[in-house]
Amino acid sequence: MAFHRIPVTLTINGQKIVRDVEPRTLLVHFLRDELNLTGTHVGCDTSQCGACTILLDNQAVKSCTVLAVQADGSDILTVEGLEQEYLHPVQEAFREKHGLQCGFCTPGAIMLGAYLVNHNEPLTEEGIREQLDGLLCRCTGYENIVRSIQRAYEIMNERQNVQSQTAKGVG
Ligand code: FES
Ligand code: FES
Repeated sequence: MAFHRIPVTLTINGQKIVRDVEPRTLLVHFLRDELNLTGTHVGCDTSQCGACTILLDNQAVKSCTVLAVQADGSDILTVEGLEQEYLHPVQEAFREKHGLQCGFCTPGAIMLGAYLVNHNEPLTEEGIREQLDGLLCRCTGYENIVRSIQRAYEIMNERQNVQSQTAKGVG
């Protein structure tokens, strides 16, 4: 049975996107199947694994829990849009601290880490582990994911210090 399609307008990774979507389409499927943004993974479709985590209006959201039509008008960042001039501190830290093995959960882990690093004062190890509660990783035992997020806070801080020194004309 064909569903009628509804127009949606979103900003995805800085680009305005206008599409007609079926009302039943999950945001994660819209990103992957309609826009070919396959960096966002589907691990379960039932809000268990966190592999589909993206930033929706700057909040970390499991994109299998949202219909594409519900995201109409929103600003979305996926893992493809995270790198700007340089790797995001979380990407750099995952590379440095070996925060991944098979990579299946990694887009979700990185987007959750980006949310934490962008929005919070550095969390304790316990705080990071609490935030990782909604992410299932079958490989790493979470140790290197936690270390990576801790390191990402440091990298963010180092970059901010360099920027402020440069703004003051030091160095
Ligand atoms: S695919 Fe969304 S939580 Fe698993
Ligand atoms: S790195 Fe394999 S599931 Fe997390």
